[in-house]
Amino acid sequence: ASGCKIGPSILNSDLANLGAECLRMLDSGADYLHLDVMDGHFVPNITFGHPVVESLRKQLGQDPFFGSLLSTFYLLSSVCPDAMPPSYPTHFFFLDLDMHMMVSRPEQWVKPMAVAGANQYTFHLEATENPGALIKDIRENGMKVGLAIKPGTTVEYLAPWANQIDMALVMTVEPGFGGQKFMEDMMPKVHWLRTQFPTLDIEVDGGVGPDTVQKCAEAGANMIVSGSAIMRSDDPRAVINLLRNVCSE
Ligand code: DX5
Ligand code: ZN
Repeated sequence: ASGCKIGPSILNSDLANLGAECLRMLDSGADYLHLDVMDGHFVPNITFGHPVVESLRKQLGQDPFFGSLLSTFYLLSSVCPDAMPPSYPTHFFFLDLDMHMMVSRPEQWVKPMAVAGANQYTFHLEATENPGALIKDIRENGMKVGLAIKPGTTVEYLAPWANQIDMALVMTVEPGFGGQKFMEDMMPKVHWLRTQFPTLDIEVDGGVGPDTVQKCAEAGANMIVSGSAIMRSDDPRAVINLLRNVCSE
């Protein structure tokens, strides 16, 4: 897929240094960050919630309003090059935080996450009775909408919502833990979605790294989450570049 984006998952990073780890991913060329929220109910693991996201957003040095204001200056500076150094990294101004909400009641955290500075809210279809209302609420809170399905969920259940969301997330492991084995048999779901919805952003998450990214790209994924493959590398920049290049071929 052309224009693939790479979103490191910081789940398997040094969580005591989360801020530094996120900055390290940005410096390594991440297009966005994929943040895994787990509540111990929807999945058998617990991570963090909106208070941590709020602190991260501050540490990353940007909030949505200020970020968009600065982006405007950045655009102006391309017209008026003396206004700002042209090499200024755009991610300094605004970084997408894709919240992967592995929680039982996703309705509960929409506003807190928006206030904390998240700008994409990806919830699980399995976790809600009323996806339509949730999609509307996420939009009203100014965030992009992601809709995720677990490996056992048929992709046809996602289809009725596909025209109302920004991104579909096809899980390629059972959600809950990083470092699991990539499930190649999820690729037909990605391919089917790509065929039905040519312009939809499609994300894959779980066991994706240099060895598996090509299969994801061939099936039609254009947003690549990768956790341990990036985090465990001595050279995360090289891994991110490799993933982006392979995916965009
Ligand atoms: C799993 C999470 C993933 C995971 C990815 O429940 O949703 O985001 O952290 O990590 P890897 O790439 O190691 O499978
Ligand atoms: Zn995830």
